[in-house]
Parts: sequence; structure tokens; C-alpha cells
Amino acid sequence: MAVNAPADTVTLTIDGREVTVPRGLTVLQAAESVGIDVPTLCNHEILEPVGACRMCVVEISPGPPRPMASCTTPAADGMTVKTDTDEMQQIRRQTIELLLQHHPLDCPYCDQSGTCELQDETFGLNIWSSPFETVSKAFPEENLNEVIMINHNRCILCYRCVRVCDEQMGVHALDVSDRGSKSFIVTAQHKFMDCERCGMCVEVCPVGAVLSRPFKHQARAWQTVQTQTTCPHCSVGCQLQLESRKGTVLRARARPVAEPNRGILCGKGFFGWEHVNDPSRITAPMIRRGGELVEVGWPEAIEHVGDSLLEIARREGPESIAVVAGNELSVEDGYAFARLARGALGTANVYQAESGFAKAADAIEAHLGTAALFPDQDAVLNSDFALVFGADVNGTHNVLAAHMKAAARAGQMSYATATRVGSGLDVFANSKLRIKPGDEISFLEALAEPTAESAAALGIDSAQLSGLAGKLKNAERAFVIWDTGAWTRGREAEIATAASRLASTTGATLCPLPETANAAGIWRAGIGPDLLPGRIPADDSESQAALGTAWNSPPTGCGRDFAELSSSGELAALFLAGIEDSAQLPGGTVNAAALDDVRLLIVQATHAGPLTELADVVLPGAASAEKDGHLISFEGRANHLEVSVPPPGHARADWEIAARLAEYVGFGFGHRTSSGLWQELGSFGVAQHQPGDPPAIKENGQVRQPTADLPLVLANETNLFSGNRNLRRGEVLSGIYSECVEIGSSDADWLGLSGGEQAVLRSAFGSVDVEVQIDDRVPAGVVYLADGLTGAAGEQLYPGGADGRPVSLRKAGPA
Ligand code: SF4
Ligand code: SF4
Ligand code: SF4
Ligand code: FES
Repeated sequence: MAVNAPADTVTLTIDGREVTVPRGLTVLQAAESVGIDVPTLCNHEILEPVGACRMCVVEISPGPPRPMASCTTPAADGMTVKTDTDEMQQIRRQTIELLLQHHPLDCPYCDQSGTCELQDETFGLNIWSSPFETVSKAFPEENLNEVIMINHNRCILCYRCVRVCDEQMGVHALDVSDRGSKSFIVTAQHKFMDCERCGMCVEVCPVGAVLSRPFKHQARAWQTVQTQTTCPHCSVGCQLQLESRKGTVLRARARPVAEPNRGILCGKGFFGWEHVNDPSRITAPMIRRGGELVEVGWPEAIEHVGDSLLEIARREGPESIAVVAGNELSVEDGYAFARLARGALGTANVYQAESGFAKAADAIEAHLGTAALFPDQDAVLNSDFALVFGADVNGTHNVLAAHMKAAARAGQMSYATATRVGSGLDVFANSKLRIKPGDEISFLEALAEPTAESAAALGIDSAQLSGLAGKLKNAERAFVIWDTGAWTRGREAEIATAASRLASTTGATLCPLPETANAAGIWRAGIGPDLLPGRIPADDSESQAALGTAWNSPPTGCGRDFAELSSSGELAALFLAGIEDSAQLPGGTVNAAALDDVRLLIVQATHAGPLTELADVVLPGAASAEKDGHLISFEGRANHLEVSVPPPGHARADWEIAARLAEYVGFGFGHRTSSGLWQELGSFGVAQHQPGDPPAIKENGQVRQPTADLPLVLANETNLFSGNRNLRRGEVLSGIYSECVEIGSSDADWLGLSGGEQAVLRSAFGSVDVEVQIDDRVPAGVVYLADGLTGAAGEQLYPGGADGRPVSLRKAGPA
């Protein structure tokens, strides 16, 4: 027995070894902490132990005179544990033999073969026959929804699938019918499983019972190559394992169990990989000749682009060239384009693609300073109170929402929702209310100074409003959380300004969630006409000199506003990197005229799309799974991208293309790897801006009130299956949520519309044909339209921001 062990530890002996571990660990965890392997089946590192299978039995003394489940027994001071006695082995053998009595030995056909825990335990215990008569089950395989299927015959009733859906995702889509040996996994509603399709039930199933339909029979587990990388679909920055075979990405898994996702993924991260293998990938550089895009080799493409840009710079001045970096590029890619523009091409007209986060962050920085951005997820999950307002964060940043639900259920935090439609977060919210799309700024102002009048104007209960305001003010650690995506378009800074004022009044911390995986990284890298890399003001002469030395060329000073430049007729060449449609131009579609007016349009992209159709030159970039680099999450965490598969054909990492161009025009970067660029950018640091005078909330002149002609209000936000074009490539995710508008049943009755029917959604600017779905999470008077779907209907209705704008909906056909 060790002496002087701290009070928060316990010391026990396991298989003759003295082990000291933190108090609160189980015997199983204590054994694992010193590398003693105890077989398990129902236990899983991200789940609460239930002690269902009895594989982990150990002998404990002093203690009850019977084998104990080590996964549920707390380690205690002075315990002596034996994990590997003949009796324990015999119990484990019997457990496996009983399971094999019903379990089909269809390993050659089973997707789980090679990673099956039952297979491993059978092998480990050297079991090759069973004393029990085999009683095969013969249930047919069942498709639970578009992506999940179940083979009941293989189920060993560990309940991991039910528990993960409940404990970690807060969804409870699975359940157990009957008890004992007749137990059976069923969908909670006993019908088609309309769940969040996160795939976590597949991930934790120890055998091949719950299966991924898209992965079915794609490869044996041992044939895949695994890499650890970062999910590119939102700014939570989940860590995952990508598995590929022969250069094709086949699936993702929620490994490792690391921050920030702690071993879980959402459906975007689990299933959203078809874009990498999509047939619309651009695989070679192309130059438009005689109206057609013609494939060329890299030397010719680099020479053509380099010579054309040099010629334009010579004739019309380098400031006639503009470069835009997309928000899904890596930090290194974005920095490479800033350096290409400022250090090699001599133009200061370099821009971050349109970003709600960038505008919100600028406003927060002006009010509260840079330190007010990027709070830790852990601080949010251990806060006293958090308010989630605006879009449904369960749809936009699902894993953060799942963690919040779990933390609230465990009593670790409490939160309230103030969203426009029903949210997956509502279930564990201690208060929930609906605010009308367009009323969010008034709502934030009312929270800062709650009155009966402001509550009445918002149509919400006055006591609820002042209760929320009181919680924000009185909680020691409070957060205000919102997604900065589609729904904020056109009023990003105003919303952030109102939130900043609320933070100043109440002491709450702000948590703006970037709308893409790397909007924060591009913002932090300092890619803008008035910024040098590192977010240093572009007119800072000392920084200019330092950069000049590092780059071997002086960086340019301040550039022009993109809207002003693109309407001036002086923009001759536009280089778009990592941008797929005109809504991503700085300022959005209102600046789309620039695309027609420029003499040279260069589009560097991964997939063919509306902009490559217009381009004079197309350069093939690499998808996130095909390059090294970093993405910066909502916490400010720099997450690593690893090369999982090679880019197709002649596609190259975006930073590499920028580097080759810089070299061609005579200002090479001197880096052969992305890590050189990462280190170089890191050496510039990030400028700390001091709070200035808070910008006023501007009236942006948009008509936001419903009218008799347009009597409904549009809620246009990202959902679980939208957000970027990559999520809509392939059949898996686009097959789950097809383009539609959602309305509540009372509005459907009023408008005479039924689910599945075609309708016309009209605004003051135009109309789109859409399918109608009926869902009572959408309040009366509101039409929900998911953003980021292929048709970009929101932008067609109101260029520059459709959320909160008046619309009408009527049955398709003659008006
Ligand atoms: S996919 Fe996710 S939400 Fe659906 S049942 Fe499985 S764990 Fe639950
Ligand atoms: S389906 Fe898989 S995870 Fe669910 S209870 Fe059966 S074996 Fe366990
Ligand atoms: S929460 Fe975001 S980062 Fe995590 S898996 Fe889902 S989309 Fe990817
Ligand atoms: S792993 Fe402990 S009882 Fe199943």
C-alpha cells in the first residue's frame, strides 16, 4: 500500500501491480491505465457503463464473494483485483459461447469483420466450438432510414446504440423492446427512423448489427488506409478518422476520442464525403479557347496565368487585379493567396470571401477587443447559463449542440433557446421561445433592457424575457451563442453589435459560431485590403518592412473596397480561389456584375460549378481530404488536415498553385511544404485591436415587415444536411433532405397546401418553385428554407440576404 497518496486518488492492487488512479475511476479504467487488458463488450469509452454483458468480470477482495463487473465497480483504496483467474476466463468463455449460440457466423459477409469485438474476443479466448446447440435467428435485414440499417441476427444486446443516441446525441431514436433474451432493438417511434443520421449507432456497435448503408460491402476493414484529420463541414472542427481504399475515400469514423468532439460526429462528418470522389471534380487545368474550356498541362497553365497577370499589371497597373480567398480553404492556402497578391503580383486588392463570421468578428473586435472572440467549448459546457439565439445550432454546429444537451442533462450547465423554428436543443433547454425571423436585433436589445413593452412588441412573454435577462446578468459564467451563417446575411455586424452591447450590459461572453470550417482561420490570417497577414493594419510601416524582409518584396499597402472596385470598371483580372458561386464573392451576389465585366476570370476550385462555367482559366484545387494544412475552429483551435488520398488527376493543393504562380512571376515563396507557410504566418502573430467606439446599429433599408401581398416571413438558415455545396454532392446526404420549404400545419391549411406538393415561393424580387413539407417545428407565419442547397433559392429571392424578409407561398400552377 502506497503511503502519502493524495486524497483525490485511490491505490489498489491489480494482478499483483500497485496502481494509483484518480478517485472516481472504475476498476476497468484503473486496469487500463496501467495497460492491463480486461475484455469488454457492452462498455464503451464514451458511454456510461451499464454492466450488461459480464465480459469484464474480475475477482475483488475484500468484496462480495462473486465475480464483479469491473466496468461498473468503482476503484477503491486497498482493493486487490484479479482479472485473469481460471474462474474469470471460464465466465468469459461462457458469455461468448452463449452469444455464439444465436450469432450467425457470417463473418465473410459481414462489414464489421476485422473490427468486430465479438470476433476479437472469440479469437482471444481461443473458442472454436460451442457446447450449446446453435439456435439461429432469421430476421431479415432492415433499413431503418436512408443511411442506417440493422441486422438483428448479429445483435448481442449491449445497448450501446440505444445509449449513444440517448446519452451523447440527445436524440433517443432507438429503444429496446421486451427484456431479457427476447430483447430487440427498435426505432423509438416503431417506424421509419427520422433521426439526425449522425451514424454514431454504427460507430459504437461492437458487431455488424447496426451498419452504414453507404459503406455496405465497400471494403474489408483491413483493406482500408486510415488517416486522422479534421472535418471540413463546420467550425466545430471535429477530429475523425478517414478510411480510404485505392485513393477513394470510403468512410469516416469518430476516432480518436479527442477534443473537441470527444468521440462523436454528426451526419455531415460521418457521411459527408461523397464530394471527394464526385464525378464533377476538376482534374486538370483548363484555358478557354474559342469559347470552350480546353485541358492543358500545368506548365502551360502557369505560364498563361502568370503572363496574363503580368501583362495586365503592366498595362493597367497591379491594382487592377483582385484576389479572393474562400472560407473553406486552409489557413495556409489563404495565406499563400495573400502573399501571392501582396508580395508577388503587387496588388493590395485581396479579400476574404463573403463571411458572416468575419463581419461579426470585426464588430465584436471593435466593441470588446479580440480577446472577446473564440471562447473555449469547455467553458461553454461548464457555464452557469447559455443563451442560443437565431438559427438552430443543432443543425449548424451539431456536435457542439450534442455536447450542450449532454451537459445540460448531466446538470453541468443550463441553457435557453430563442430560435425562429423548433430546435433539436429545445429538449434539454430550461427555457425556450420562438422569435420571428427579423426580430433578433430587437430581441437582443430587449434582453439588455427588458420591459413589458419590448416583450409585447416581440410577441413574447414579459416574465420569460426578464427571466432570461436576469439569468444572463446574474450567472457567474454566461454565454450568448449564435451561428453567423446564412440567416445573418445583410445584418451580420448589426447582430454582433447588439450582442456585444448585451455582453457589456450583462457580463456574458460571446460565442459567435463561424459559418464554415475555416471562416475564422481566413479572418485570423488577415486576408483583406486593409490588413497584412496576422491582421496587422496594412499601413503599419514597421510591419510592412518586416514582411518585406521575409518575402523579399515589399507588401502592398491598403487596397480598395471590393464593391467599389468591381463597379468602377477598373477591375481587369479577378482570381477566385476556393469559391463556388457568386454568393461567396465579397459582398455577395450584389457584386456579381464583376464576373461579367473582368477581362480575365481565373477560378481555382475543386468541382465544376456556376463560376467555372464563366471562367477564362480554371485551376484544379484539392479537397480538404487531399492536402495538409490547418482549419481554425470556433474556439480558435488550429486543427490539422492530413492528406488522406491524393488529389485526382492533376489537381493540386491550393497553396501549392499559388506558390508556383509566385515563383513564375519572380517572387517564389521559398517553401516546398505547407508547414513552411504555417510557421511563417505564425511568426507574424495576431494584432490586438483595442475597443473603439461601438458602431451604431444601422437601418439597412430592407423591407422586413410582412405585407398583405407577402404575408409570411422567411427563415433562411443552415440545417443538418446543408451548409455547403460539398454536402449536396452525391446521393447520401442530398437523398435525406431534398430542396423544399417547410411550413407549419396551420399555415398549410390556410394556404391549401399539402406535404410533397409543388408551390411557388415569391419575394419582392422574384420567385422560385419549391416542394412543400409540413413540420410543426415551424411557427405560424414563418416559411423555413434551408440555406446552402444547390439551388441557392434564398439568394434568388433576396440577393444579399433573404432571412427575415417577407414572402408569399402558393400552390404551383396558374396564379
Ligand atoms: S444515426 Fe444517430 S441519431 Fe440516428 S439512431 Fe443512430 S445514433 Fe441516433
Ligand atoms: S445493435 Fe449493436 S450496439 Fe445495438 S445492442 Fe445490438 S450489438 Fe449492441
Ligand atoms: S459538428 Fe461540424 S465539424 Fe463536427 S462532424 Fe459535424 S459538421 Fe463536422
Ligand atoms: S463490459 Fe462490463 S459488463 Fe459488459
